[in-house]
Amino acid sequence: MEENLVISDVAEGIANLTLNRPEAMNAFSVAMLQAMGRALADLRFDPAIRVVIVTGAGKAFSAGADLKERAGMSPEQVKAFIFNIRRLMDDIELFPKPVIAAVNGAAFGGGMELALAADIRLAADTAQMGLTETRLAIIPGAGGTQRLPRLIGKGLAKEMIFTGRRINAQEALRIGLVNHVHPAEELMAASRRLAADICESGPIAVEQAKYAINRGSETDLNTGLAIESNAYWICIPTEDRLEGLAAFREKRKPIYRGK
Ligand code: COA
Repeated sequence: MEENLVISDVAEGIANLTLNRPEAMNAFSVAMLQAMGRALADLRFDPAIRVVIVTGAGKAFSAGADLKERAGMSPEQVKAFIFNIRRLMDDIELFPKPVIAAVNGAAFGGGMELALAADIRLAADTAQMGLTETRLAIIPGAGGTQRLPRLIGKGLAKEMIFTGRRINAQEALRIGLVNHVHPAEELMAASRRLAADICESGPIAVEQAKYAINRGSETDLNTGLAIESNAYWICIPTEDRLEGLAAFREKRKPIYRGK
């Protein structure tokens, strides 16, 4: 039963991870948190997987921490939960393949933090997003206070976090919180199209580009450029790089094998 808390289905190099507690708006229980960690671990070193799409079953993306479960937790258990959910988001941010959040509905608290940890966010026009924690007299604990200001700037992030305000998809688009908004019924197709586009690029190059952007943007420019340079060096001896050059010469599509 527990495996069903996160449904993992794979097709053509794209893994879909679906948070599956629709009756609780896909709120993160301890069990769903663990299921998500396992699902990601299964995909991490699978060379057949090029991109991961995360979405929610039913009408919500995720309503954040399971507040009913939380009510029965001791302070130590809350601490452990926060530690583990923060680690899950770090895992997603540092996942060696791109992660797309397909925000199909409400993404509040930890749900929005999950979207923030992804590389690219697409939203349904019906989506609502917010870091609502201060309304519960707590703060975002799964990276929200750090990732939101880095994405949309400190001023707007403080406004969202201090008020706990819930914004709609159009506002999320306007402030750069999501890359694109799609009609709800087209969200998954749009996410798969984007994932398929990424699959056409060299997988080692994509992994190294993600690494350089993530690591380089957290340091000074010169160190960032050194990180970029090292990441580039990793691409040079690959078969894929030679395949890219050969395909260009032969006017055909390259076939990249991640080698
Ligand atoms: N934890 C546990 N259960 C949750 C939940 C959460 N975070 N969010 C929603 N649920 C449950 C509801 O309690 C309800 O269960 P019930 O049928 O047993 O009463 C069920 O999911 C459906 O939610 P409901 O509120 O009836 O649906 P809605 O469509 O009116 O509203 C939300 C959906 C997501 C807007 C609303 O549930 C909400 O605001 N949730 C809290 C979000 C939040 O503040 N998260 C931050 C956590 S730090």
